[in-house]
Amino acid sequence: MAEPTTTSRHDLGVGLISVGWMGKLHSRAYQALPYVYPETGIRPRLLHAADTAPDRVDYATDVLGYARGSTDYREVLADPEVDVVSICAPNMLHREIGLAAAEAGKPFWIEKPVGRNVEDTAAVAAAANAAGLVTSIGFNYRHAPAVEHSRELVASGALGRVTNVRAVFFSGYASEPKGALSWRFNRELAGSGALGDLFSHVVDLVQYVVGPVAEVTALTSTVYTERPILPMGSATHFAVIEDGELGPVENEDYAAALVRFAGEAQGAGAVGTLEASRTIVGPQCGLAFELYGTDGSLAWNFEQMNELRVCLGRGGAHQGYTTVLGNAELGDYARFQPGPGIGMGYDDLKVTEAKKFLVAVVGGERRNCSVDDALSAAEVVAAAERSAADGSWQKVPAVTGTTAARRG
Ligand SMILES: NC(=O)c1ccc[n+]([C@@H]2O[C@H](COP(=O)([O-])OP(=O)(O)OC[C@H]3O[C@@H](n4cnc5c(N)ncnc54)[C@H](O)[C@@H]3O)[C@@H](O)[C@H]2O)c1
Repeated sequence: MAEPTTTSRHDLGVGLISVGWMGKLHSRAYQALPYVYPETGIRPRLLHAADTAPDRVDYATDVLGYARGSTDYREVLADPEVDVVSICAPNMLHREIGLAAAEAGKPFWIEKPVGRNVEDTAAVAAAANAAGLVTSIGFNYRHAPAVEHSRELVASGALGRVTNVRAVFFSGYASEPKGALSWRFNRELAGSGALGDLFSHVVDLVQYVVGPVAEVTALTSTVYTERPILPMGSATHFAVIEDGELGPVENEDYAAALVRFAGEAQGAGAVGTLEASRTIVGPQCGLAFELYGTDGSLAWNFEQMNELRVCLGRGGAHQGYTTVLGNAELGDYARFQPGPGIGMGYDDLKVTEAKKFLVAVVGGERRNCSVDDALSAAEVVAAAERSAADGSWQKVPAVTGTTAARRG
């Protein structure tokens, strides 16, 4: 592959709010961007990081390379050298910090699910759109080359009309009964459980590939009702605590939904099942979909991220699925690997996410996943919550301006 040539140079000062798992990953994505996408001319400079845990501020300056640190996120937003902000705080802070970033006029890359509920997400979306800001959401799985290719195959009609979809996020991060009671299990701090945390990824994925979800009926369950307490900012939600004091799990471990897709394009009339679990034993990070069309099918699982199973047409000697490995024809694969069949990883998806965000910030192509996509996913999650409470079918309000609805 010829090296892309650089156009004009864009130096951008980066602010980071919260130095947990995602905060570190956003930082590494900004650092990798100039190597992976040199032709963008974008040169992120890690300037100012904040976390309420002082040792994490030290980590940001001493290890990640931020020029300065703070224990108050407001100092990041007030920093005149900060051009863009990553908001990687727990869900209960998304609304407050998202609104503050919009008021400060800083384009922001915020982690999913953008708040604890659809009201939080709608408030952040309204503020960002009113301020005319470019935004980016941490729905990283949509950037996997196999997923980008699946979206193209659906849009081109290669599968015919999509008839039915099965999609799941089966994660085992809370399968251990003594797994820590992090903020994720508290309604005030996280909002919903598996719905906001995992099901939102499933929704974004199927909406990105197939089209908007229009109607839903759902059920939820909680597998473990108590867990050992984990103080904020210490360890991750994968931690296991042997003899800790127990606290209540306040949201669902599992959710399942039947959905109808909106009557648009290749997804017209499609139906499907969507599920999420954080306590499953077996699958580890099993975000997966199967798409069935009148002329073909696709199957993908993040646990084998570099493999797409494709079936096009009904007959012939090779009927049924063929496994296609990562190659230069799929999404941005060629930016990461020089030849086919060499595995990409989770962190690479964040580099593509950073690139889509910052290209839009400097006035280029708008392929970024935006607050409108976050609101669209939150509307589906809210409809699933309402349905789970009374067993009804719930309509999902349509959201305009999403990249999911914009084909190509
Ligand atoms: N896109 C993905 O695949 C993905 C994966 C994991 C998490 N997430 C999302 O990322 C967000 C963060 O999750 P995480 O796993 O990185 O959490 P984490 O628990 O690893 O880190 C959260 C950090 O926020 C800090 N914090 C708490 N209060 C703060 C405040 N007032 N100001 C500044 N910092 C504060 C904590 O000290 C901690 O360092 C969540 O919204 C989560 O849903 C997304």
